[in-house]
Amino acid sequence: MEIRIPEAAKKLRGSVRPPGDKSISHRALLLGGIAQGTSRIQGFLRAGVTDAMLGCLKTLGVDAEFMGDDDLVIVGRPWHIPHEILDCQNSGATIRMLLGALAAQPIEATLDGTQRLRKRPMKRVVHPLRRMGADIQGTDDQPPLTVRGRKLHGIDYEMPVASAQVKTAILLAALFAEGPTTIHEPGPSRDHTERMLRCLGIAVNAKDGEVELIPERGPLSAFSLVIPADISSAAFLISAAAVVPASKLKLKGVGVNPTRTGLLDVLQEMGADIRLENEHESGLEPIADLEIRHSKLRGVAVSGQRVVRMIDEFPIFAVAATQAEGETVVSEAAELRLKESDRIASLVGELQKMGAQIEAREDGFVVAGPTRLQGAAVDSHKDHRLAMALTVAGLIAEGSTVVRGAECIRQSYPDFISTLTSCGAELA
Ligand code: S3P
Repeated sequence: MEIRIPEAAKKLRGSVRPPGDKSISHRALLLGGIAQGTSRIQGFLRAGVTDAMLGCLKTLGVDAEFMGDDDLVIVGRPWHIPHEILDCQNSGATIRMLLGALAAQPIEATLDGTQRLRKRPMKRVVHPLRRMGADIQGTDDQPPLTVRGRKLHGIDYEMPVASAQVKTAILLAALFAEGPTTIHEPGPSRDHTERMLRCLGIAVNAKDGEVELIPERGPLSAFSLVIPADISSAAFLISAAAVVPASKLKLKGVGVNPTRTGLLDVLQEMGADIRLENEHESGLEPIADLEIRHSKLRGVAVSGQRVVRMIDEFPIFAVAATQAEGETVVSEAAELRLKESDRIASLVGELQKMGAQIEAREDGFVVAGPTRLQGAAVDSHKDHRLAMALTVAGLIAEGSTVVRGAECIRQSYPDFISTLTSCGAELA
């Protein structure tokens, strides 16, 4: 599928509720599949990545039914031996979190996915789970991976990289382990699992980069949860409103968990006009409405903990940086090379085709701006976030832009194009 943007947008205006949070939807789905009984998840992200998790859970015997577009009822029960391979498709969250959840179940299962997923790092999750007593086999610890449920014991683990997927896998295994588990994190990765487990009455204590889980005897109880809109999906609209002249967008019910708001902080430091209103909390997650207006931006340096707090936002952040006065430098962000595409190489290559002054570094990139982007034919590299970032780049480019391989947008934001159109963008 291709997206055609015939010319630069004049302005973006409107009020939008971005789709449900991908990370929280994954966790709610998996915990709903583990809990005994009927759970209800409202505001669920119905998209490619969650289809992958849902498909695996159904293969394990979990029942789930949609009551409306984003309203899911899920009936958890003890998992049965799957008669087919669990297809995690292109979803890193699905394979990593499921490995942790499966490690202590009395069944054997094999997990696999796309060629790209087979190449993404799995040792970071396999190694700590093995230390807990898990039996996980696979050539060079890469998918396909077979896990045979074992009795697990708690561990004290120093994570080498800040990864919420790894942390979640360990916490899910720790739920069923003998004795407490403590995880030390090198950076503030998203803490949705900790918050959700606390909501379910599990003792999870967090302070100063350390998370401790004390397992409960007995099954997890079913729950009811309303999921906020995804700040990582909102990021495309936030940045688009900041760079398209005369824009003003209101985004409703967006999750503003401080482990996810790095982009807001960085854009505000660049001079963006972003206001938070109606701040409140639901399911232990902070939520707000955001209002964004077009403004002049200046270059900024991003490294360290801010990288972790905006790890999924760099494709769209790079587009915003092309419009900023001066230099923007991203460093200590080598993790970007391990995402749905090598996000340093793919992003730099595609934005250069549009005339951006952007150079790759081993652990990040440097952008000089402002540059009037030129319309071009660009490619998504099968990476949903790159496809959406390039579409926004097309909205500020002179002449026409074609984004090839745009079907991957369905992975996390199926209504992205219709939403942009409803805000006044001309796309086909
Ligand atoms: C996620 C964690 C991050 C993020 C991904 C979702 C999660 O990955 O990039 O999109 O839901 O826990 P890592 O754990 O690899 O950093």
